[in-house]
Amino acid sequence: MSTRPAPVRTRITEMLGVDYPVIQAPMGWIARSQLASAVSNAGGLGIIETSSGELDNVRNEIRAMRDLTDKPFGVNIAQAFVCDPSIVEFVVEQNVRFVTTSAGDPTKYTAQLKAAGLTVFHVVPTLAAALKAIAAGVDGLVVEGGEGGGFKNPRDVASMVLLPLVASKVDVPVVAAGGITDGAGMAAAFALGAEAVQMGTRMVSAAESPVHDNWKQAIVNAAETDTVFLNRFSRPGLRALRTERTTRLERDEHVDMSEFGRTRDLYFGGDLEAAIALTGQVAGRIESVEPVESIIHRTVDEFRRCVDRLQHYR
Ligand SMILES: Cc1cc2nc3c(=O)[nH]c(=O)nc-3n(C[C@H](O)[C@H](O)[C@H](O)COP(=O)(O)O)c2cc1C
Repeated sequence: MSTRPAPVRTRITEMLGVDYPVIQAPMGWIARSQLASAVSNAGGLGIIETSSGELDNVRNEIRAMRDLTDKPFGVNIAQAFVCDPSIVEFVVEQNVRFVTTSAGDPTKYTAQLKAAGLTVFHVVPTLAAALKAIAAGVDGLVVEGGEGGGFKNPRDVASMVLLPLVASKVDVPVVAAGGITDGAGMAAAFALGAEAVQMGTRMVSAAESPVHDNWKQAIVNAAETDTVFLNRFSRPGLRALRTERTTRLERDEHVDMSEFGRTRDLYFGGDLEAAIALTGQVAGRIESVEPVESIIHRTVDEFRRCVDRLQHYR
């Protein structure tokens, strides 16, 4: 077991009540209690997904979180996937204090969530989306670079450009998402204006992630060039692991959501050709399957070493 590093204090850790500004990304079927409780117990923030659309299961997962951790955790409302307007009441009823909203219009749920006393961060892929979310009254932003895994704006912008751009135009705290797996990435994100980082692909490959080992090993074996961007000229844009199937789909004018039909066979059966394995470019930097606690604590230790090293240039 790793030694617990001293807390890193930012506006976001204060808002969330966590020791480390490291957030586990919401991910359909994956971001459930087994993974999220490990993250929260390690001092980061676990997030439970709703993008699977399986709200009954999600309710059970939230209940399970209360047994598995006494630490804070959040819930994501992936608006494109949960069209049920009762989602807000659902989240409020679960007594969750922190919500990220994504893949949709920030004016839709922000006022209602905030009126219920929740802290709301919206996920944005562009400056225009960030300004719209601010106008809607969000407490913070998750700024998501196009190198990250998952659904993406077809006009993708890398974190290196997007983060400092958004951070320079807003006053609310910013979480950096896309391309982060370690303390060097975290230090870079902080240099660019972030006060927390969110990890998706790194958490898919974590020991406590519920996905089949074939996907974890594919991430470990992937080069930085082993993802594809699908629906570049259509919607929804998405970044996924390069497989035979996605290499073929990469050239298609439009990739239909039916390609996700056998997601469970991929996620839990390990058949990487059964559907689309959402994965970010940072897979090229992930070299082993590691327990969540060591990922988070090592990231924080490396972050501090990076910050110390940079003092040399003062
Ligand atoms: C398998 C997978 C599923 C995802 N599902 C969601 C989701 O349901 N809601 C959401 O807001 N983001 C989702 N994302 C995006 C992540 O929240 C995160 O921002 C992204 O993975 C960060 O980039 P990284 O993969 O380089 O860490 C998903 C990403 C992956 C890899």
